[in-house]
Amino acid sequence: MKHKPETIKVHDKAFEIFLSAEKIQETIREMGEKINRDMQGKNPLFLVVLNGAFMFAADLIKHVDTACQISFVKLSSYVGTQSTNTVRELIGLDEVLHDRTVVILEDIIDTGVTMAETMTKLRKLEAKEVKLATLLFKPDAFVKNYSIDYIGIEIPNDFIVGYGLDYDGHGRNYPDIYKIKEA
Ligand code: IMP
Ligand code: MG
Repeated sequence: MKHKPETIKVHDKAFEIFLSAEKIQETIREMGEKINRDMQGKNPLFLVVLNGAFMFAADLIKHVDTACQISFVKLSSYVGTQSTNTVRELIGLDEVLHDRTVVILEDIIDTGVTMAETMTKLRKLEAKEVKLATLLFKPDAFVKNYSIDYIGIEIPNDFIVGYGLDYDGHGRNYPDIYKIKEA
């Protein structure tokens, strides 16, 4: 196995090892087992929120052993008519959600604002049920009060990269997760 660096430089900042690839994979296997138990016979549609969740989704879906479909959406951000107001649009959703069980796959829930907006948009499409699965959750940063159905690992309020997560578009490629090193 390739030697793992303890510290990496991403863009202009230093990061130190936080969650190993082994720990991440073990967590995902357990999440997969729970999802399997709940989703038997429901033909769920897994909805992957790009870009960050691409690695998590690829690994999780390999554990799913019931009939399912997978699709990918992106949240485009643009500033609305009022400068303080950010409006996000869900793009790339071709599937009909009406009367379906949808499982959203997200990399991380921080303040929870992004997912709140996403779920509001999905509910308008009249899915039968919308479940939420996130690999990582920062409880101290969460300002919402909706429930999260599947949480992989709760983490402190530190900025992290790796395993799909980025700093300014960089650092998504690492199999491990690193946290920012305080100067
Ligand atoms: P929220 O709306 O605050 O929950 O933010 C969710 C989004 O912010 C995630 O989907 C990530 O793209 C990004 N994000 C939040 N925390 C981190 C982090 O520690 N590293 C990298 N991206 C993060
Ligand atoms: Mg994300």
